[in-house]
Amino acid sequence: MTAPSKTTPSPHKPRVFSGIQPTGNLTLGNYLGAIRNWAPLQKDYECIYCVVDQHALTVFQDPAGLREATRQVAAALIACGIDTDKHILFNQSQNPDHAELAWYFNCVARMGWLNRMTQFKEKAGSNKENASTGLFVYPNLMAADILAYRATHVPVGEDQKQHLELARDIAIKFNNDWSVADFFPVIEPLILGEATRVMSLRDGTKKMSKSDPSDMSRINLTDTADEIAKKIKKAKTDPENLPTDKKGFAGRPEAENLVTIYAALTHQTVETALSEIGGSQFGAFKQILADAAVAHLEPITTEMNRLLEDRAEIDRILAKGGERAKALSAPILKEVRDTLGLVSA
Ligand code: TYM
Repeated sequence: MTAPSKTTPSPHKPRVFSGIQPTGNLTLGNYLGAIRNWAPLQKDYECIYCVVDQHALTVFQDPAGLREATRQVAAALIACGIDTDKHILFNQSQNPDHAELAWYFNCVARMGWLNRMTQFKEKAGSNKENASTGLFVYPNLMAADILAYRATHVPVGEDQKQHLELARDIAIKFNNDWSVADFFPVIEPLILGEATRVMSLRDGTKKMSKSDPSDMSRINLTDTADEIAKKIKKAKTDPENLPTDKKGFAGRPEAENLVTIYAALTHQTVETALSEIGGSQFGAFKQILADAAVAHLEPITTEMNRLLEDRAEIDRILAKGGERAKALSAPILKEVRDTLGLVSA
């Protein structure tokens, strides 16, 4: 008799889910760390991509601004190749199943787990008492986004890894507590590409972020060619030339960040990029980098602006996506309610 294998194959159909907040402009960090990897996954997986407008509400949002940002992010995703006929693109609030499942997960996740979340600590800052409770339980809603569809794979940037580990813990605890083995899949993060953590152009030790007060710290997907060139020209550097190998990045976070961005934009590894530009002065390299960034981003920005000329069409796409998403999550939510002992039709 052969011994049973330790890892039984997952009974869940491979399915991709990822989300993005409609707060401010999308950055090169969002693009290289996440969005760029989303379209290629459509070839091998059924994909669900979500503009997470309810997550955005964990800090105050001006209603008109939120509505506009939701459409802008949707346009950016379509411009980056999301196929809204074959796959699903919608905004989170169109499917209330996420919020319902998040409530159940509020009752599964432990305070200690959430207390360890570094993103909460960063976002709440020194005045934790004044942060919304939504910001604290944010990772539970994120787990619900994914598990409402029993998604198995989640493409994100490095900064979301801890949240996905928490989502895994929630799935495992739910399955154990209610003795429903394999009810929720144990999700796998997909952290892909060279630039999984793009840093600020003003400080190579800080993440590039749409919420940074300085617009010079980031490249936005809506920036013009001139703006991109100006921001790269002014990006912080150090007095040395570029190193010729990766070891030379020690203590030089800005050099490492700019070369990593260049490698990602030109579809090569950092090592091969260094064999091309290693030893150059920053001035010359910045010109090459600016040209690469403009060449890469300009077609996306142009397409995004074209799509935004017809906002009603974007709203139709999101509503259709919402209906299809709801059709997938409704039977799963019904099973969840039955498992928990809630009486429903
Ligand atoms: P958000 O909106 O902050 O960012 C969206 C995606 O962009 C990635 N990202 C970066 N990658 C590399 N370098 C950077 N500087 C950078 N900045 C952002 C993020 O890792 C992310 O993949 N909580 C999520 C949204 C979310 C979600 C989900 C994601 C809600 N529900 C379910 C996956 C699955 C967030 O705030 O991402």
